[in-house]
Amino acid sequence: MSDRKGGRGRPPKKKGARRPAAGERRALSQSAPQTHLRGDPEVGRLLERAFERLEGNPDRLTHAFHTYPAKMHPGLASSLVRSMSAPGDEILDPFCGSGTVLVEAMALGRRSRGLDLNPLALRIAEVKTTLRGKAARKRFLETAHGLAARSEERVRARVDARAPLDPEEARWYSGHVLKELAGLREEILELPDEDRRVFEIVFSSILMKVSKQRSDTAERETTRRIRKGLSTELFLRRARELEERWADLSHACREVGTIHRPRLALGDVRELPQLMEGREPIDLIVTSPPYAGTYDYVDHHARRYPWLGLEPTRLREGEIGARRALKGQEGLQRWDRELGDALRGMAAVLGPDGRAVLLLGDGQIERERVEAERQVERLAPSAGLAVIAVASQARRDYSGRRDRREHLIALRRS
Ligand SMILES: C[S@@+](CC[C@H](N)C(=O)[O-])C[C@H]1O[C@@H](n2cnc3c(N)ncnc32)[C@H](O)[C@@H]1O
Repeated sequence: MSDRKGGRGRPPKKKGARRPAAGERRALSQSAPQTHLRGDPEVGRLLERAFERLEGNPDRLTHAFHTYPAKMHPGLASSLVRSMSAPGDEILDPFCGSGTVLVEAMALGRRSRGLDLNPLALRIAEVKTTLRGKAARKRFLETAHGLAARSEERVRARVDARAPLDPEEARWYSGHVLKELAGLREEILELPDEDRRVFEIVFSSILMKVSKQRSDTAERETTRRIRKGLSTELFLRRARELEERWADLSHACREVGTIHRPRLALGDVRELPQLMEGREPIDLIVTSPPYAGTYDYVDHHARRYPWLGLEPTRLREGEIGARRALKGQEGLQRWDRELGDALRGMAAVLGPDGRAVLLLGDGQIERERVEAERQVERLAPSAGLAVIAVASQARRDYSGRRDRREHLIALRRS
């Protein structure tokens, strides 16, 4: 690991601030996990500070509007963007998911780009980074009330509507819920395009709550009593919440004085060099790739795709780190290839002074624990990257195995 002198990420020199020695362990507070630092102490301190922000309120701005598995903590994203970039810089999150880094970049006046292979992720990120002024938000609320009134009327009059689901998929809903959702969807489809795109995501945000599925990440049946009209009520409540969250985001953007809506693209991290060809190099990457063998993102959103008419074929084929694809020794080699190629993609678009910070947890490939920071250190040189610093914290493993660690890994081009 070599140190990098100069550049934007250098921490402010605070009088009396004590630098941690390499490898030093220290507790954040009595109950907070210890942070283990390696590499450049100054950059390590920035990473440690970002971990400290894990204790802050995660519901600011538009962050809590729609669930998404393994969302990044907004405080952590904000701390990294703030401390490792300057106004005017361009930030990239090539695994942007629901857009946490992009929302924080906006609130800090940074330009940003988001990439993800999940079409639903991009639709959520689009809504979360939408800016609507007061008058437009008022119109949005009026439209929401109109939709809800028409949906209630359909329920009262028992108007039939067709859900775009096959019988296997339809069994995840009680009959009356299915009908109510189908009616609501038909009303949404009548809206002009810009409104339709937003209300489809409001609709998506309530699906799990009214289905028989336990949660996004647990595809097990659970019993929920959903009375007639409740789906519409939840829909309206969510729309109101979104309006309030948009107001917060607008306020934050006004405070910072510049407005940069992120550019979003559906794509594979390994295609970054082609996707970014001819564009300015990136100043800072802040991202959280999938943790090896932990999730199957494509399955976690299975309930939502058919309602929204989204086709997740590319995610099914190109999702990296997917639990379903990583088995045995071959799985370990595959994950090495996937992560190595992802690092190469990121290195290719980073400017000469640019940095990348990965939030990556140890993976589990069947019985094998994959130590993420060791793996990145091993793969970085052939990807054209060098590790600057690593901050690691232990995380409880609820499957009963020994604790895993989660790492913030700062890299630069080598
Ligand atoms: C840990 S999640 C990111 C969550 C995000 N930081 C947030 O706060 O919502 C990892 C993301 O990687 C995406 N992904 C998986 N394979 C990918 C690939 N090959 N290229 C781009 N994105 C990919 C998944 O769709 C998922 O959204």
